[in-house]
Amino acid sequence: MNILVTGGAGFIGANFVRRLLARGEDRVVNLDLLTYAGNLENLAGLEAHPRYRFVRGDVGDRGLADSLLAAEKIDAVVNFAAESHVDRSLEAPRTFLETNVLGTQTLLDAARAAGVGRFVQVSTDEVYGSLGAEGRFTETSPLAPNSPYAASKAAADLVCRAYHKTFGLPVMVTRCSNNYGPYQFPEKLIPLMIANALEDRPLPVYGDGLNVRDWLHVEDHCAAVELVLREGRPGEVYNVGGENEWPNLEIVKLLLRLLGKPESLIRFVPDRPGHDRRYAIDAGKLRRELGWAPALPFADGIAATVAWYREHRPWWEQIRSGAYREYYDRMYGAGGRYGAA
Ligand code: NAD
Ligand code: TYD
Repeated sequence: MNILVTGGAGFIGANFVRRLLARGEDRVVNLDLLTYAGNLENLAGLEAHPRYRFVRGDVGDRGLADSLLAAEKIDAVVNFAAESHVDRSLEAPRTFLETNVLGTQTLLDAARAAGVGRFVQVSTDEVYGSLGAEGRFTETSPLAPNSPYAASKAAADLVCRAYHKTFGLPVMVTRCSNNYGPYQFPEKLIPLMIANALEDRPLPVYGDGLNVRDWLHVEDHCAAVELVLREGRPGEVYNVGGENEWPNLEIVKLLLRLLGKPESLIRFVPDRPGHDRRYAIDAGKLRRELGWAPALPFADGIAATVAWYREHRPWWEQIRSGAYREYYDRMYGAGGRYGAA
């Protein structure tokens, strides 16, 4: 297949592009705007790959999408491109709606006009909102997003649904839990905590640290997206999750143990507004229908991830030296949202 991957210079997209090329896919075209989160170093080594092409551009640019789909004879689209960080969505919601909702709608229109055979929308468990101590999200759980980020992803999911129902576009939606692994931008919990710990800086834990997330290695997520791309039923939603729930504080302590750093680095800071208490995913449909299961035990995945960030210090040091520094100071510095850090 000739596949258009959007957002392929980000964390999950870059892992997915590498995976497709390693598999020997006919052609992989990566459309990415290179926002603050997009980084061509995530794709280092692929520049001269004969079956790969990078195009810098906005998923909201209809003319560009039309010309790429035609010129590259695209059979399938996998849409990872998004504004992805909840905290940033509290500061600047509009960009989230533009990219995540209107960008998706633009791609759907282009895919429809070009007669693209498969369209995978990469979504998130955050569209379901927050759980109490019990239960898990299934594909039929109500959508109840709580952050502007989650609302934008939920809106995009519904637009995908409508394009399937109304126009018969073969769209599949995946909703995955929190990912970890190599190339994750160091504003997200796990890489932020590893990088701060390696620099002996404080580790800012929001609220009481007892919010629960269900962690899945990025390779297992990419395997699920690939399976849905090849075998998913058009119009269906598939949950993806690790059955691997951790309170944030326990994750932070685990990382400190793996890094040989003291728990005294932990700082409790003000809570995130609207902070979802718990996410947990029931991935039974994907297991039953497509035979997916996570391959990497969490103990191995997290140890490998810590090792990767240790070994790739220049990768995150370079990110953290630029505009990221301003973001960090604005969020976590004195007077910032999480200012006690
Ligand atoms: P990321 O922020 O690391 O990467 C996003 C990429 O999209 C970047 O390369 C960025 O340059 C690109 N992009 C942003 N706006 C664009 C635009 N207008 N046009 C083209 N490209 C644009 O995000 P990620 O963590 O890799 O997440 C990828 C997708 O997976 C997102 O859709 C996200 O909602 C979803 N998801 C993420 C997680 C997670 O834990 N990270 C979990 C479930 C679902
Ligand atoms: P994050 O990686 O931002 O993912 P999401 O909010 O999409 O789940 O955060 C994961 C959890 O970690 C979430 O409960 C918020 C918490 N968190 C902190 O306690 N401190 C931090 O500095 C960050 C970035 C997150």
